Amino acid sequence: MFRIVSILVAACVATSAWAVEVGERVENFRLLAHTGDSHELYYHSNLDAVVFLVQGNGCPIVRNAAPRFAELRDEFADQKVKFFMLNSNLQDNRASITKEANEFGYDIPILMDDTQIIGESLDLVRTGEVFVVDPKTWKVAYRGALDDRLTYENQKKEASAHYLRDAIANMTAGEPVALASTDSLGCLINFPEKTARASHANISYSKDIAPILADNCVSCHREDGIGPWAMTDYNMVRGFSLMIREVVRTQRMPPWHADPAHGEWANDRSLSDDEVKTLVHWIEAGAPRGEGEDLLANIDHTYSDWNASEELGDPDYIIDIPAMEIPATGVVDYQYHLVDNPIGKDVWVHAAEILPGDRAVLHHTITTFGDIMTEGKYKGELNRKGGLRGYAPGVTSQAYPEGTGTFLPADATIEFQMHYTPVGRATVDESKMGIWVYDEPPTHPIISVFTANPRIKIPPHAANHMETVERTIPKDALLFNLMPHAHFRGKAANFIAKYPDGTEEMLLSVPHYDFNWQTDYQFKEPKFIPAGTTLVQTGWWDNSAQNKANPDPSAEVTWGEQSWEEMLFGAMLFRFLTEEESAQMRAERGMDQQTQEVASAR
Ligand SMILES: *[C@@H]1O[C@H](CO)[C@@H](O)[C@H](O)[C@H]1NC(C)=O
Ligand SMILES: *[C@@H]1O[C@H](CO)[C@@H](O)[C@H](O)[C@H]1NC(C)=O
Ligand SMILES: *[C@@H]1O[C@H](CO)[C@@H](O)[C@H](O)[C@H]1NC(C)=O
Repeated sequence: MFRIVSILVAACVATSAWAVEVGERVENFRLLAHTGDSHELYYHSNLDAVVFLVQGNGCPIVRNAAPRFAELRDEFADQKVKFFMLNSNLQDNRASITKEANEFGYDIPILMDDTQIIGESLDLVRTGEVFVVDPKTWKVAYRGALDDRLTYENQKKEASAHYLRDAIANMTAGEPVALASTDSLGCLINFPEKTARASHANISYSKDIAPILADNCVSCHREDGIGPWAMTDYNMVRGFSLMIREVVRTQRMPPWHADPAHGEWANDRSLSDDEVKTLVHWIEAGAPRGEGEDLLANIDHTYSDWNASEELGDPDYIIDIPAMEIPATGVVDYQYHLVDNPIGKDVWVHAAEILPGDRAVLHHTITTFGDIMTEGKYKGELNRKGGLRGYAPGVTSQAYPEGTGTFLPADATIEFQMHYTPVGRATVDESKMGIWVYDEPPTHPIISVFTANPRIKIPPHAANHMETVERTIPKDALLFNLMPHAHFRGKAANFIAKYPDGTEEMLLSVPHYDFNWQTDYQFKEPKFIPAGTTLVQTGWWDNSAQNKANPDPSAEVTWGEQSWEEMLFGAMLFRFLTEEESAQMRAERGMDQQTQEVASAR
């Protein structure tokens, strides 16, 4: 994993520019492209070659090489080859990269290495260089110049040697690459942390590392937490340090999947670029203990079972959900438990939270309430009047925004829809629901709006199938939360607001949807949604064999409740504005006053 030796060699041998030499293995990584899509290197394990051009804004060599790079992409379009650009420049950012891409017509995803940790580990030296990774071994099969056309002083009309093309052609023909490295030109990339590598052994575990882990990781990585191992002290962290580096490089951890370019979120779990750099550099320096206290060993690891108790204290009421025996294997159908509201009076619910009995098997819970129908076709079934919060891994905060709540009548019947996934050992799940109520009725009822498109049809083997669903919001409202939902084949999701004045805004983009984390994205500042705004939710699915979670790439997949079926489903939390609030918000934004309600449409 560590290439300390080659780093030292590279530092000593001035002519050897690359630490990742031809024949060395490239570790996996995931990066966002300037276009907002997310790419993981090892996803492409079925290809013959993954090709990179090291891009940097303003570099004439890159600008000159890019058209030929795109030609090669077209030339190999029918082959199993993927082309990327990779930008590790300190001085470039998404806006400037996008500007450069538009100006020079780049239509290849430019992966943005904002923290430089990927470029550092590849020991990139110059923009304009190309390298090719062989997915059979993940080793570098070629690195150097694209061809022999460009020199610093002038350029030939035509190249006489086509190094990159030949290397790719060798690989698609299943031959060894005949010429595996050449000298290359380009603009030097400044990697200040690479020069400063010796000082990384001085990064303080006590002052710098343990606080990052305590703030960002320990709430799950603790005894009885949902993380697979507990960060109980330095020794545990050191033992798992290479794993930490890997999950950070591949963006598996922390589990936060929103593109930071859109929206600000109260429950943002991501690390800052500086935190990522500090953590990775410390690990690459051998994760030294250094001086000082061990914060992790001294943390009070006792947590309340109830997440909302952090804000609201112990629940006012606890409702037992009927126990359920879960077999070791097989499929358990959705369970629907009806429970008479035990509270004994009408209440306004401020927070409702499911406490899973066995987190390993409880996949999700959806809680609704209403009356049992006494006649007709649906006699004995629930006539749903409202919902309380559900459960899914990754959904943490359950309190409704202050001043909003849900009215739960004394005579309501509560339905718990429980979805269980057997995990190889038999168990009994005894989940509970905690309920916190307002003493005085809140000023606004909370409105849950759901989107669902039951007509989705995902063709066999489709790697990037897209479908949409939309809802129009009939009255001026504040939007608090957005939650996209799909199953094993879910790949990406976003929500776009189409405002009545014709403008559009990306409210949330989740370029790498992860079924294991059902995150409810909570706006830092509630979003004003004028009446007549249409919220468009788009989902993408990966039904190819490259999606490791895909149970059957040959299946045509349609809507269904089980995880091997699919959903295009979304949950949003609103409250409507009063006339005065609406008048004020519109005045602040220079908008016309709302005159009438807009018809709600699907
Ligand atoms: C492999 O590369 C060499 C030059 O490096 C080239 O002459 C040869 O044609 C290539 N093989 C294929 C199958 O393209
Ligand atoms: C590391 O810290 C020690 C002690 O403070 C200091 O003497 C040394 O110069 C530092 N090393 C680097 C490379 O910064
Ligand atoms: C409770 O939820 C908050 C907000 O989402 C989160 O920051 C915190 O870590 C959670 N606490 C536990 C014990 O899970």
